[in-house]
Amino acid sequence: MKNILITGGAGFIGSHVVRLFVNKYPEYKIVNLDKLTYAGNLENLKDIENVSNYAFVKADICDFESVSNVFAKYSINGVLHLAAESHVDRSIKDPFTFAKTNILGTLSLLQAAKECWKENYSDKLFHHISTDEVYGALQFDETLFTEQTKYNPHSPYSASKAGSDHFVRAFHNTYGLPVVITNCSNNYGPYQFPEKLIPLFINNICNNKPLPVYGKGENVRDWLYVIDHARAIDLIFHKGRTGETYNIGGFNEWKNIDLIKVIIKTVDKFLGRAEGESEKLITYVTDRAGHDLRYAIDSSKLKNELGWQPSLQFEEGIEKTVKWYLENRQWLDNVTSGAYKQYYEEYYEYRDKK
Ligand code: NAD
Ligand code: DAU
Repeated sequence: MKNILITGGAGFIGSHVVRLFVNKYPEYKIVNLDKLTYAGNLENLKDIENVSNYAFVKADICDFESVSNVFAKYSINGVLHLAAESHVDRSIKDPFTFAKTNILGTLSLLQAAKECWKENYSDKLFHHISTDEVYGALQFDETLFTEQTKYNPHSPYSASKAGSDHFVRAFHNTYGLPVVITNCSNNYGPYQFPEKLIPLFINNICNNKPLPVYGKGENVRDWLYVIDHARAIDLIFHKGRTGETYNIGGFNEWKNIDLIKVIIKTVDKFLGRAEGESEKLITYVTDRAGHDLRYAIDSSKLKNELGWQPSLQFEEGIEKTVKWYLENRQWLDNVTSGAYKQYYEEYYEYRDKK
């Protein structure tokens, strides 16, 4: 029997992880703890919200008392920690919130796990979901990030994620807490908040709005379909070696401008527009401060040790993603108008009072 705490389960990746675990493991209790910041959207979990092995708790990971109560109430023996501030542009404007949530919030969870588990670590695991951005940036001629690459974070976001990774390792080294860390590349797919490149651009193309390309569009990112990330997390949580780090990525590097042209072509096709018609929306804008040139991850360790590999080719993943956003315009409209907040917060407050 496992009672698993998933933090940040109302966000983009978290909602896919919650759905996978709730459906695949009916014998587990899955507790989703989320503060419902602007990025948290319970609509992402509408299809499983009434399943009997699922519970939602609205709480802040920085609130040690609330977190400890959840550990005790549900006898938590596994943690999948995804809650974070995740957008680099926001971290440039407001680094304090990133340090608080990503570093202190992670520390609060680690301390709650340590106090609750009282060194009875045999069936316990704290899995921290982190990012490839902790490794810094690559030049075009450099080899991929491996698990041995030294940490060299550049943005306030990546510095805060690096800080949280260090605390996770510190709890393993100092107190023996059983941990595993995964560092993943850029995710894309359904339910991503439309501030991130792919959903933002799909939404803007649909609405004939400018597509703001930072700098010259030459930066490179390594893209992975979100469900493949969730599958990797599932595998590592159950079969990974304690104390280890695993990189997750699909060996799928794209220059931003090339990726943007694929998105335009795919959206135009679905909307019945002439091929490339929306390229006129491309607008080069001031570059992101400290914009990392290139990320690219080597996930050979995960493949060799645990046999994981991505299930989707990129072209297939992009088609599925564009189709999903076009078929779920209401989801996008609810997010962009803010309507997603009101309804679901009221629904859960009402349910909790009953
Ligand atoms: P997201 O912004 O979509 O979701 C974050 C979730 O965390 C939201 O539901 C939000 O309400 C919740 N949250 C934020 N602050 C909280 C707090 N103080 N207490 C409780 N809940 C809080 O993020 P995402 O893109 O799904 O990323 C999830 C995790 O994966 C993050 O840790 C991120 O660093 C990591 N990651 C993301 C990517 C990516 O491409 N998106 C890649 C690698 C790693
Ligand atoms: O690498 C993993 C990381 O990927 C995660 O840890 C982060 O949580 C996630 O947000 C993502 O970070 P990026 O900064 O790479 O993602 P974003 O979608 O913001 O940007 C992707 C690239 O596109 C980046 O080079 C900046 C560029 N960009 C982005 C936006 C939003 C633009 O050119 N225009 C835009 O409007």
